[in-house]
Amino acid sequence: MKYSCLSVLSLFPSAFAATAEQWRGRSIYQIITDRFALPNGSDQNVCDPGQQTWCGGTWNSIRSNLDYIQNAGFTAIWISPVNQNYEGPRSPYGDPYHGYWMADISKLNDRFGTADDLKALSAELHRRNMYLMVDVVVNNVMATSITPDYSKYFFKDASFYHPYCPIQWGNTNSEQVCWMGDEKVPLPDVDTTNPTVIAQYGEWIAALVKEYSIDGLRIDEDGITNGHSRHVQMDFWPTFCSKAGVFCMGEVLGGQEVDPIAMYQGPGALDSVLNFPLYSALVSAFSIPGPQNISALVDIFEQSKTKFKDVGLLGNFLENQDLPRWHNMTVDPQSLYNAMTFTFMSDGIPVVYYGQEQYFSGNSDPFNREALWPSNYEKTDAYKLMSTLNQFRNFLVNKTDWVKQEAQVLTTSPYGLAIMKGPVISVLTNIGSPPRNNTHIAVRSPYAASTALINILTCQQWAVGSKGMIEAQYTLGGVPNILIPSDMLSGSGLCGAELKTTNDKGGKAAALNSSNHLSPIPSGLITFTLFCLSLAMRTSGYAMLS
Ligand SMILES: *[C@@H]1O[C@H](CO)[C@@H](O)[C@H](O)[C@H]1NC(C)=O
Ligand SMILES: *[C@@H]1O[C@H](CO)[C@@H](O)[C@H](O)[C@H]1NC(C)=O
Ligand SMILES: *[C@@H]1O[C@H](CO)[C@@H](O)[C@H](O)[C@H]1NC(C)=O
Ligand SMILES: *[C@@H]1O[C@H](CO)[C@@H](O)[C@H](O)[C@H]1NC(C)=O
Ligand SMILES: *[C@@H]1O[C@H](CO)[C@@H](O)[C@H](O)[C@H]1NC(C)=O
Ligand SMILES: *[C@@H]1O[C@H](CO)[C@@H](O)[C@H](O)[C@H]1NC(C)=O
Repeated sequence: MKYSCLSVLSLFPSAFAATAEQWRGRSIYQIITDRFALPNGSDQNVCDPGQQTWCGGTWNSIRSNLDYIQNAGFTAIWISPVNQNYEGPRSPYGDPYHGYWMADISKLNDRFGTADDLKALSAELHRRNMYLMVDVVVNNVMATSITPDYSKYFFKDASFYHPYCPIQWGNTNSEQVCWMGDEKVPLPDVDTTNPTVIAQYGEWIAALVKEYSIDGLRIDEDGITNGHSRHVQMDFWPTFCSKAGVFCMGEVLGGQEVDPIAMYQGPGALDSVLNFPLYSALVSAFSIPGPQNISALVDIFEQSKTKFKDVGLLGNFLENQDLPRWHNMTVDPQSLYNAMTFTFMSDGIPVVYYGQEQYFSGNSDPFNREALWPSNYEKTDAYKLMSTLNQFRNFLVNKTDWVKQEAQVLTTSPYGLAIMKGPVISVLTNIGSPPRNNTHIAVRSPYAASTALINILTCQQWAVGSKGMIEAQYTLGGVPNILIPSDMLSGSGLCGAELKTTNDKGGKAAALNSSNHLSPIPSGLITFTLFCLSLAMRTSGYAMLS
């Protein structure tokens, strides 16, 4: 029997303590809690990110606006850190509206709401069968001097911190023990090798996850790899994450180098990391203007498959709270659409930073933390694309083993590539919006000649040519194409009307026929599932089905 109880249980929604396997098929919408939505009834304020102060978003206002996220097909949200932040006078770098300036982590950040509000958000997400991922900061706290009064923090004694020294970048020891930040806003470095610190962080995270039914953690800056160094020794994480009992996705900053990031994923480190190498490669390949280097993308893609423990668990993103918005680098929307399609249709968990769907265009921190409300939450073309990508991916995840099948590069060209994951072929290009008559990407697919494919973004039929060839033409501009045999789409709710219409005309009956290309669930699995479920209910105090 090749199914483990864990993998079978992952087929069922769990409202608590989600594992890596349960996260694999999810897609995540990343929120800066202060900037996503205003509370009911409050006046729409003009939120200037340059002011670096609070604009008023709360856990309740996220809860009131979950339709916007769920209607786009997301199955999880990642919110700003929830714990108490620095509360003194405004610092030279503004106020802690972002939630990353830790003070006493045993308390919640009351700017964002009460304990009941956070529980209500968690409960509402679970009612919608969505997951809650919370950002946590473990390696440092925030201060406004290099001689802070430690009694205000969770760790109340100077002995729990490394003594002050400014980081000498490039010196590994210095990077581990010295303080991030600067003399105006130093970030005192917690000594994560101290056994008391390890034990207390463990108890803290176990309690936090349990109290608020958190399903996963995003861990802030647990490593920085310019110089192969890190702020927290790697072996801190397995203990911490097992105490948490949930999926952990770490932020390990880096560029295109795969090795220094890949070493943070695995049994001796974290379940997952944010995929910085892929991000850099997508910028290289798709930004306009840019190096438009498709080989760089293919190179990182191939290296990642061998160097990461499990590319299917990495967090794929195009934007976040530190990086310039995609639209700040590239105003051509087709650049965004093609890169975004890659993050959804390749291996990994798609992570979309709020506002990407509204073409926000701020550059780095703090300008990339725009308020979402001035957009009126419009269903833009980017929002619609994202919704289709999620709907398609959710269908593949729910109904097939697509998410476990490793993506491959089928074809590369100077201005694009085709990847295939499971039965799905995505043909992507960096030529941008202007139509081109004499540009095409010819892809050698494994499909037999005259197989009927459908482009799920346009619902147009494509016929496979001789020797499996398919050809993307760009007479309407450099759009992404996502192709799947028509007969595999049944049950997805996508392109339904169009298929019926075609069928009514008598042409393409096969398109409506549900297929056997996909492995059906063996009946043995169902029996085994019931066995696992009863086992789980006996051995755990938690309701597995909610
Ligand atoms: C805000 O208003 C909406 C719509 O009127 C309602 O569904 C929601 O429950 C309200 N949220 C809160 C936190 O009161
Ligand atoms: C493209 O990327 C490859 C692989 O990273 C690199 O060797 C090559 O020099 C790059 N080409 C350009 C034109 O930047
Ligand atoms: C990039 O961001 C900066 C700062 O927010 C802004 O001044 C500039 O106009 C942006 N560029 C584009 C192309 O939107
Ligand atoms: C897939 O599962 C998710 C989460 O369980 C659910 O929200 C979604 O509606 C399902 N989608 C499809 C297309 O079945
Ligand atoms: C592309 O072809 C169409 C139809 O043949 C023609 O109308 C159009 O001008 C051509 N565009 C370019 C950019 O050559
Ligand atoms: C579906 O395909 C099978 C075999 O390919 C065929 O026997 C059956 O009649 C088809 N069903 C429909 C509804 O077209």
